[in-house]
Amino acid sequence: MVVARDLHKRFGALQVLGGVSLHIDRGEVIALIGPSGSGKSTLLRCLNHLEIIDRGEILIAGEKLVDTDTQGRARYIPEAEIRRVCRRMGMVFQHFNLFPHFTVLENLIEAPVTVKGMKRDEIVPRAEELLRKVGLLDKAGAYPNRLSGGQKQRVAIARALAMDPDIMLFDEPTSALDPELTGEVLRTMRQLAHEHMTMLVVTHEMAFAREVAHRVCFMDKGQIVEERAARAFFENPQHERARAFLEHVL
Ligand SMILES: Nc1ncnc2c1ncn2[C@@H]1O[C@H](COP(=O)(O)OP(=O)(O)OP(=O)(O)O)[C@@H](O)[C@H]1O
Ligand SMILES: [Mg+2]
Repeated sequence: MVVARDLHKRFGALQVLGGVSLHIDRGEVIALIGPSGSGKSTLLRCLNHLEIIDRGEILIAGEKLVDTDTQGRARYIPEAEIRRVCRRMGMVFQHFNLFPHFTVLENLIEAPVTVKGMKRDEIVPRAEELLRKVGLLDKAGAYPNRLSGGQKQRVAIARALAMDPDIMLFDEPTSALDPELTGEVLRTMRQLAHEHMTMLVVTHEMAFAREVAHRVCFMDKGQIVEERAARAFFENPQHERARAFLEHVL
């Protein structure tokens, strides 16, 4: 579903991605972990075109988003095509990013209506079904400022799902939440994983990563330095930096 090859990205003099390669099969859940500043968010943002790579290749669900020309420069597909390809990915951020002036239900139906041109009659039942799934159908008419952080995040997940993505990218979806609220968001994500959603999850929730992820990618200084089955990784990390990291966080 996702193939990334040799991604390079710098911000000015700072090399943030130094040749990252990653593949995610359909239905796979990948936990992306690593120290602060190692490039995890940047990698996610490059995958769905919130950042532009300098060099490398990205395919989403078999379609090319970008490759590299013979001069070694990134070569993106045309803008309209980019939008279409990126629509196959839903993204959930640390800080929810709900529309504050829309109700919960309106938050879910806005993009399907304006971006996909769906009819309200079509999308409302689907949106309600998604709200039921994340346990928030009773909040359909509420505004985001009346919701807890955990509830907001579950709305954000439902909103991403309303676009019917093939892949869900999560960037520390629970790190702004109290432990109690973290649990309810992780439950929703676990349920998605059981339904075989393809997921790439940046997280500091090691118990979640160990239980739910099939594979762990450990990033350090702009590179994936270790990539293994989740269980094996947590039992016996090979890379020195990964070991130190786990000792620190577990
Ligand atoms: N827009 C930007 N302009 C300049 N530097 C940036 C920008 N975005 C990120 N960086 C830098 O790139 C590096 C990687 O940042 P990134 O946000 O990808 O790290 P991260 O692994 O997600 O960290 P964290 O765990 O703290 O979220 C950091 O040194 C950061 O300061
Ligand atoms: Mg980050």
